[in-house]
Amino acid sequence: MLEVTDLVVNYGEAAAVRGVSMTVAEGSTVSLIGSNGAGKTTLVKALMGLQPVTSGSIQVADQDITHRPAADRPDLGVAVVPEGRRLFPAMTVRDNLLIGLHHPAARGRARDPLGFVFDLFPVLAKRQRQQAGTMSGGEQQMVALGRALISRPRLLILDEPSLGLAPVIVDQVFEIIGRIAGEGVTVLLAEQNMQRALELSDHGYVIADGQVVMAAPASELLVSDGVRHAYLGEP
Ligand SMILES: Nc1ncnc2c1ncn2[C@@H]1O[C@H](COP(=O)(O)OP(=O)(O)OP(=O)(O)O)[C@@H](O)[C@H]1O
Ligand SMILES: [Mg+2]
Repeated sequence: MLEVTDLVVNYGEAAAVRGVSMTVAEGSTVSLIGSNGAGKTTLVKALMGLQPVTSGSIQVADQDITHRPAADRPDLGVAVVPEGRRLFPAMTVRDNLLIGLHHPAARGRARDPLGFVFDLFPVLAKRQRQQAGTMSGGEQQMVALGRALISRPRLLILDEPSLGLAPVIVDQVFEIIGRIAGEGVTVLLAEQNMQRALELSDHGYVIADGQVVMAAPASELLVSDGVRHAYLGEP
C-alpha cells in the first residue's frame, strides 16, 4: 500500500529525514516509533505532500506520488490525522468533520458519511453543533479522527494521536485505531508511546535522528532490549 524508498527531507541545509525506507503492506498496521525530534512529523508531512522531498521516493498503491501535490492524496485514498489535531476551533464539530469531504473523490466514496462517523463516535453526534475549540482534548482528537475517516480512506496516517491526552482517553483512542484497522484500513501510526503503538501493530520501525535504526515485527520490538537501547537510550 505504501512504499518509501531512501527518503530524504531537508529543512534548508539540515536533513530531518535521512534516507528512510519502509513498507506498509495493504491491510497491515505499522508503527513509526521515535522520540522528540526523531523526524516522525517530517516524514508524515512528506507522505502527505506538505513538505518537499529532497530525494528518494514515495509510492502509494504502486503509484509514484513523491512530487505530487497534497491535494492528490484523497484521490488515492490517503487521509491523515495530523500532529496537534489542527481543527478549526471556531467552527462546529459537524463542519470540522465535513472538511474531510471537501475533495470530490472523498465525497464519492462515502454513503451517509456523517452517520458513519457518529456510529464510531456517538459523543460527536450529540455535540455536532458545538464549537470544536470548546471540546475536551479527547473529544477534539475524535473530531480529528472522524474528519480523516469520513472520506473512508484506504490508508490512514496518524501523527501522535495520543499526545497530551489523559490515560483513559489514550485507551479509547488506541481502541478506536485498532477497530479501524480491524475493518481492513491500512494504518501508519507515528507515536512516542511505543508500548501502546506496538501492541496494536503488525510491524514497527524505530527511527532516531532521521534514520531507521530498527525494523521488525511488532511482537519482536516489544520484547527487544535493542529497542530500549536505540529508542530510550538505555544501555
Ligand atoms: N519547520 C522546521 N524547520 C526547521 N527544522 C525543523 C522544522 N520542523 C522540524 N524541524 C527539525 O527536524 C527534526 C525532526 O523534527 P520532527 O518534528 O519531524 O520530529 P518528531 O519525531 O515529529 O518529534 P516530536 O515527537 O517532538 O513531534 C528536528 O530536529 C526538528 O528540530
Ligand atoms: Mg512530531
